[in-house]
Formats: sequence, C-alpha cells, structure tokens
Amino acid sequence: MSKNLIIAIDGPAGSGKSTSAKLVAQKLNFLYIDTGAMYRAITYLALKTGCLYDRNKVIEIAEHSDLTLKFENGITHVFVNGEEITENIRSVEVNQNVSDISKIEEVRTSLVKKQHQMGRTSSGVVMEGRDIGTVVFPNADVKIFLTACIDERAERRAKEYSEIGAHIPIEEIKKNLLSRDKIDSSRQVSPLKKAADAVVVDTSKVSIDEQVKLILDIVKTKMQNN
Ligand code: DC
Repeated sequence: MSKNLIIAIDGPAGSGKSTSAKLVAQKLNFLYIDTGAMYRAITYLALKTGCLYDRNKVIEIAEHSDLTLKFENGITHVFVNGEEITENIRSVEVNQNVSDISKIEEVRTSLVKKQHQMGRTSSGVVMEGRDIGTVVFPNADVKIFLTACIDERAERRAKEYSEIGAHIPIEEIKKNLLSRDKIDSSRQVSPLKKAADAVVVDTSKVSIDEQVKLILDIVKTKMQNN
C-alpha cells in the first residue's frame, strides 16, 4: 500500500467513527487522529476558565494552547500545556457545549491548521471528524461517511457514559445527539456533510468487526483502482 495515504472518516456522533477509525488505523499501522477530541479540549478549557460565552477568549484558547494528542493502547490521550485532560473532555458538560464551540470560525481555522500538520507529517493517517473529507483533506485518498439510526447511536453513547459512571436517561441522550446533529449540520462554517465522493457505510446493524472489514475493503478497492 502506498505511503502518505489519507483516510477521512466523517459522520455524526455515535455513528461508530471512533471505534472503527482506530481499529482501521491499527490494522494499517497508520496514525489515528480523533479531531473531535480537539474541539472537546477547547470546550473543556473554556468551561474550566469560565469563558464559554466569551468568543474572543475561546479563540485565544484555541490559538495559544499547546494541544497534543497521543494515541496509545487504543486510547487518544489529550494534553493541554502538558496537563492530561483525556477523561475531562468526555464529560456531560463538554458534550452539551462542544457543538457551539465548534461553530466558531477562528477556532476551526486554528484546529484545522494543527490537523494539516499532523496529517502531513505521518506516512499514513486515519483522521475522523465532521469535515475531514470536505474541508480538512478534500483530496483525501479514501473518504468514508458513517451513519447509524438515532436509537443505535443513543445506545452507544449511553454505554460510553455508563463506563465513566454517568447514568443519563436515554431520552436525554437522544435529545442531545439530535441537537448536536442539527447544530453540526446547519452551521455556516464547515458543516457536517457527506463529501460528494465519500462512500456511505450504515453501521446501524453491523458489528464492529464488520464495520472495520467494510472500511478496509473500501480502502483496498480504492487503492487498487488508483
Ligand atoms: O466526534 P465527537 O463527538 O467527539 O465530536 C465532538 C464535537 O466536535 C462534534 O459535536 C462537532 C465537533 N467536531 C467538528 O465540528 N469538526 C470535527 N472535525 C470534529 C468534531
């Protein structure tokens, strides 16, 4: 398989992006980059410093924080200015506010710049998010758009929450997911959207192993045709 390959995986929350993207990266021995973790990190810092509604301060955080991601043993470890915030970025508060922070154009510009650096310096990368195939790497070698029905997505998020000891009613989770879908897909800057040349994979009824196989088959086919 050729070097410098970029695989873009986009889709809404709970569509299975993280789970399958990291396994695909491991199978190919590629770098895995979870761009959602970067928007979450900025949201967490905005909450922590009490400036969630101060647009200029949030932009300053995005532009001046030393944000690093380290993928180890199946986990994306997130550090800001040397402090590990891996667990903090998965809180209910971050989930509730991350879509609003992601709407800020300057925040996106700053994070996309980092994503370009990370993507270009590795020999092969699987990058997942909302705008990877459309904006971050519009020339990505392979573009996948994952979808799943809302009930399935809510079940997956409930399981993630319960793993960190948070027990949130399923209806509340659904409401949050639908609200995030709405904000993410309708925002003016880089909305969540399928790239015209992305392959759609519906993960509602397929196991994780099957999802990974489907994606690897798409990658193989794509590379054979190039
Ligand atoms: O993938 P996730 O659920 O961890 O993403 C959290 C939020 O970050 C998501 O609601 C929208 C935002 N996001 C984005 O706007 N662009 C990306 N490339 C990745 C995530």
